Amino acid sequence: MNIGIDSISFYTAQYAFDLEKLAEARSVDPKKYLQGLGQERMSVAPPDEDAVTLGASAAHPLRRDGKLDDIDLLLFATESGVDQSKAGGLFIHGLLDLPSRCRVLEVKQACYSATAALQLAAAHVRGSPGRKALVIASDVARYELENPGEATQGCGAVAFTVAADPAVLALDPEAGYHAEDVMDFWRPNYRREALVDGKYSTRVYIDTMLHCWRDYAGQSGRGLEDFERFCYHLPFSRMAEKAQVRLARALHAEADGKRIEEWLEGTREYARVTGNCYAASLYVALTSLLDAPGKDLAQCRLGLFSYGSGCVGEWFSGVVQPGYRQALYTQQHRAMLANREPLTYRQYEDIYHFLLPEDGADHVLPQYRTGPYRLAGISNHKRTYEAVDEGTPSL
Ligand code: COA
Repeated sequence: MNIGIDSISFYTAQYAFDLEKLAEARSVDPKKYLQGLGQERMSVAPPDEDAVTLGASAAHPLRRDGKLDDIDLLLFATESGVDQSKAGGLFIHGLLDLPSRCRVLEVKQACYSATAALQLAAAHVRGSPGRKALVIASDVARYELENPGEATQGCGAVAFTVAADPAVLALDPEAGYHAEDVMDFWRPNYRREALVDGKYSTRVYIDTMLHCWRDYAGQSGRGLEDFERFCYHLPFSRMAEKAQVRLARALHAEADGKRIEEWLEGTREYARVTGNCYAASLYVALTSLLDAPGKDLAQCRLGLFSYGSGCVGEWFSGVVQPGYRQALYTQQHRAMLANREPLTYRQYEDIYHFLLPEDGADHVLPQYRTGPYRLAGISNHKRTYEAVDEGTPSL
């Protein structure tokens, strides 16, 4: 029995900040961001968007199309959750009016958590083929201003259902994984901004990727040429190229720049214009690839590498299913990205400095452009979310 991703939907905030403007403000050569990191723009979450609203908006088309009517497991993967106790997925469960016979929980291990959720969801379905699970990966990536990580900020969410006989991607049974206690990226509970030892983090990413590959290849017997494309976790989009070069070198494969580009084609376009989406990042790469024009990927095998600082990594793979394009939301994704509102540097900083009130009084939040759901206010330390009519105001 095949198990895997049956439908997949991506959402990002409605505001975008151009990295050329950031480069100007930071007196940095823009080529460092555009070429060195491979980033053009970052998505910026306004005060009334958070990991919950991004996730609910990603899942909204699946709900509208009846794909969530029979889920009995909702896994919310995030490292920018809104509550230490309550799972953010419960707010989404309420907003989307999902079935009450449903297990709902939040999963955390930095950017790896959505892959843990995918594997848990697959095991859940394997237990009884009629079951269906919803995984929502959603994050807002935030570093200190003027920190080297600033240019890699971003936000976004991917929602996908996991089911038997999936319409999009059937998972292979093999998975190679590796864990190690390291401090390459972390965010203590008292901080809004992540801390990162960036150069060290990219080294640990590569080492972990190679450990995972050896485990995966040992189980599957597959080599590089068994894959049509490779999707990587993308803290910044050039990371994929660095990783693929190192993988090819480790396997003594003849791979020039053209071959590396062929393996990665289509996987980085969305990340390049949204920035890091942490837990969602690998699945943003997958969505970008599936949405890409050109070659029909039906029956093609994809390699996927998930990395979460701290750290856990996993190589896994899957085969794209015939007719997969009918199950996608390609036009919706493209329109969403094309219609984002550009921010000036001043607007970017104003949004960055906005602090949610913490005094327990009643607060109504200013309304920005969002998706179908927004954070309406906070009262008595409780967040209230609401559905939004179309045609919301802009800045
Ligand atoms: N033109 C073209 N390329 C340029 C350039 C220019 N004018 N100036 C610099 N570059 C290149 C550098 O050569 C480098 O490329 P390389 O990696 O191939 O050598 C790249 O741009 C980045 O420059 P660097 O000086 O290394 O940047 P940095 O010290 O500011 O830090 C990161 C880069 C990635 C370490 C930093 O952005 C970071 O910490 N990001 C967060 C990492 C993260 O999220 N990790 C989490 C887990 S994965």
